[in-house]
Amino acid sequence: MTTTADPVLDAETDPQTPDPQAPDPQGPDTDFLASVVGSLSTPQKSIESKFFYDAQGSQLFDAITGLDEYYLTRAETALLRARSEEIAALLGSGVSLVEFGSGSSVKTRILLEALPALKVYVPIDISGAHLDAAAKRIAADFGLPVIPLHADYNSRVSLPLQVPRDKLVGFFPGSTIGNFEPEAAVAFLKRVHGLLGSGARLLVGADLQKEAARLVAAYDDALGVTAAFNLNLLVRINRELGGDFDIDAFTHRALYNAEEGRIEMHLVSLKDQSVRLGGKKIHFASGETIHTENSYKYNLDSFRALAERGGWRSEAVWTDPEGLFSCHALIAA
Ligand code: AVJ
Repeated sequence: MTTTADPVLDAETDPQTPDPQAPDPQGPDTDFLASVVGSLSTPQKSIESKFFYDAQGSQLFDAITGLDEYYLTRAETALLRARSEEIAALLGSGVSLVEFGSGSSVKTRILLEALPALKVYVPIDISGAHLDAAAKRIAADFGLPVIPLHADYNSRVSLPLQVPRDKLVGFFPGSTIGNFEPEAAVAFLKRVHGLLGSGARLLVGADLQKEAARLVAAYDDALGVTAAFNLNLLVRINRELGGDFDIDAFTHRALYNAEEGRIEMHLVSLKDQSVRLGGKKIHFASGETIHTENSYKYNLDSFRALAERGGWRSEAVWTDPEGLFSCHALIAA
């Protein structure tokens, strides 16, 4: 590795891939508009959950992680702290860590502190500003080469040449894998296998199935922070796409779909109404919903089965004492 004054190294991903954060001089983001108009034109209206995370949405999500009802972040953080030595013993020394998403610096730091003789840390995130700031702090605090990749980890990504190809460890915390449909989770796991290669390991955090009331409370908190997070989608559509949603005419709903093993979030229309968006008029019956998110919950066996379909074998799994959350160590089969 060459020495640079700035330990945060620059790396380019596929130059054909446009920077998703680049401001569009042509006006509103056409992908965002096309996606929303399309998904609001189907019998069950929906909005892709990836659109939650504008600046306001990211702030609201941070607030969610501190809520009493939202046990996920606390349970996973405590689990990683309690098991960091075991995790480090399993992964060994001299690994390179590749994180999918970079919004979890507390958890990342627990791992970085525990892993001996780390080679390099590669956070991959779609949000450029967030990524660079977090990368600089980690590089400075740990004296570690950090190579941030501005990329959508759901698209084709390749590792920069500076990253050693041996002892690669992926990190995908937060139960973000639960946001994928199971088929898409399998496809994601296959892509990560392709990126990291055989012999690589992957640490994945996955929320566990539990009684519905506990799950629903985590997605419908008493302070209404999750409601604001959900409704912010409509605020964002009005601001960025010129929509005319009446925010007060929609309300937040979270439910547990036991057949599918998932929490669903919806925005419920409180009246018969029409909304103008992208030159179209979209009608809502009273009580009709926009499906905005799925958050799949697994048990240890169903997650192992999912991992296997994605080309990984579960080598170890840790759960917190209450059995709320799991962290799987997978090895590329
Ligand atoms: C960031 C996708 C893991 O599903 O628990 C939190 C997002 N949505 N509250 C989750 C979320 C509503 C969160 N993930």
